[in-house]
Amino acid sequence: MNIVSRTKEKQIRLKREDFMENPYPLYESLRGISPIYKGSMLKQPGWFVTGYKEAALILKEPSFFTRIPLPRSTEKYGHLKRAQSKMMLYMNNHDHRKLRLLVNKGFTPKQVEEFKPLIEKITHSLLDELIVKKEFDVVSEFAFPLTSLVIATILGVPEEDRKRFRVWASALLQSIDFSRSHKTLEESDRLIGELNDYFTLVIDKKRKKPCNDLISKLIKEEDKITNEELIATSILLVIAGHETTVNLISNTVLAFAKHPAQWELLKSDSSLVAPSIEEVLRYESPTQLTARVAMKDTEIAGHQLTSGDQIYLMLGAANRDPEVFEKPNEFIISRKSIPHLSFGMGAHFCLGSTLARLEAQAALAALLQRLNTYELVSNQIKWRKLMGFRSLEQLRIKTFNTS
Ligand code: HEM
Repeated sequence: MNIVSRTKEKQIRLKREDFMENPYPLYESLRGISPIYKGSMLKQPGWFVTGYKEAALILKEPSFFTRIPLPRSTEKYGHLKRAQSKMMLYMNNHDHRKLRLLVNKGFTPKQVEEFKPLIEKITHSLLDELIVKKEFDVVSEFAFPLTSLVIATILGVPEEDRKRFRVWASALLQSIDFSRSHKTLEESDRLIGELNDYFTLVIDKKRKKPCNDLISKLIKEEDKITNEELIATSILLVIAGHETTVNLISNTVLAFAKHPAQWELLKSDSSLVAPSIEEVLRYESPTQLTARVAMKDTEIAGHQLTSGDQIYLMLGAANRDPEVFEKPNEFIISRKSIPHLSFGMGAHFCLGSTLARLEAQAALAALLQRLNTYELVSNQIKWRKLMGFRSLEQLRIKTFNTS
């Protein structure tokens, strides 16, 4: 199947598989026409934004551009529709602020810092087992167990349930992806139903026997959050809270494997760990796309947008805009400033950015300390067939001179 991007000026035709492998040439062609242009892609008409300035402007203007209320295609999928309508990601204005303020209490920098020793402990104990094997899959054996254990601990769900989180989170990622099909939506609807039942039970138990976790703390605020919102928030945190961070960690390992000189530079200066994660966020952003709808007629960069127009913000493209980033297609960990848009901007700015950064930095610091050298087992990298996310299916590496 082809991805056809049709504008007044030009038609860009690309094999869907080629786009999933490497979306950056398409982004560049689109930006070459205009940083914001009207067209259609995968039969979705709308404005496609590839320019950094234009994407930031739209993200910062919630009174002009709000989140698309709900993907239209979810209408007939009851579980999905119900859950998404209570998720802060799909809410606006007052309802959004109220819920976000409440949940944010669990993700303040001070609160997240408390998880640092736990994150470091999990990272090292995973590596203790993996480096003996000398070859392992970064996605399923390292990044996934790390992030799912962390989010399971924060929410306060039993450790033994975390394997089910992977199935749930990955199906749900598919359902919010731009390329979703009816088959994946049906499956996602069924899984959301399961997650709904699962969290109903967890919440019931915690009501009777509260602990010191986020769900128990939110239950105490029951005058400010409804039961449905609590279930939907838990589901959102399972999806948002680990799948994207798995991708950030895996994309980091891949970026350094492909840029050995940058790995050597990092080995000579470990203060570059945090900037390296920012550069991976820019260079191979886990979230490539988000969407908005225009609430009023307005003009952006000389283009007239009409109320109701759909807008697709291509964050992965904005992060490689040459007007903002020098040598945008190169992976350079020593950049002076990396103001990427990978966590969004404005009212919906990622609630878990501090946690995601902490997990990825801990993972990279531990890999740096424990693996002197590593290489990819195969140069054939398999990306999942998603348009909105940069997500590896697997990433096998061989390790050398470990400690
Ligand atoms: C929102 C990216 C990790 C929770 C967002 C948005 C982006 C994003 C781009 C904004 C979407 C929009 O405005 O349309 C990422 C990336 C991550 C990551 C790239 C990892 C590398 C996390 C983690 C959590 C989390 C670890 C929680 C534990 C959320 C929530 C929202 C959100 C709840 C919705 C905020 C709102 O609507 O106000 N994320 N995220 N994310 N993220 Fe993340």
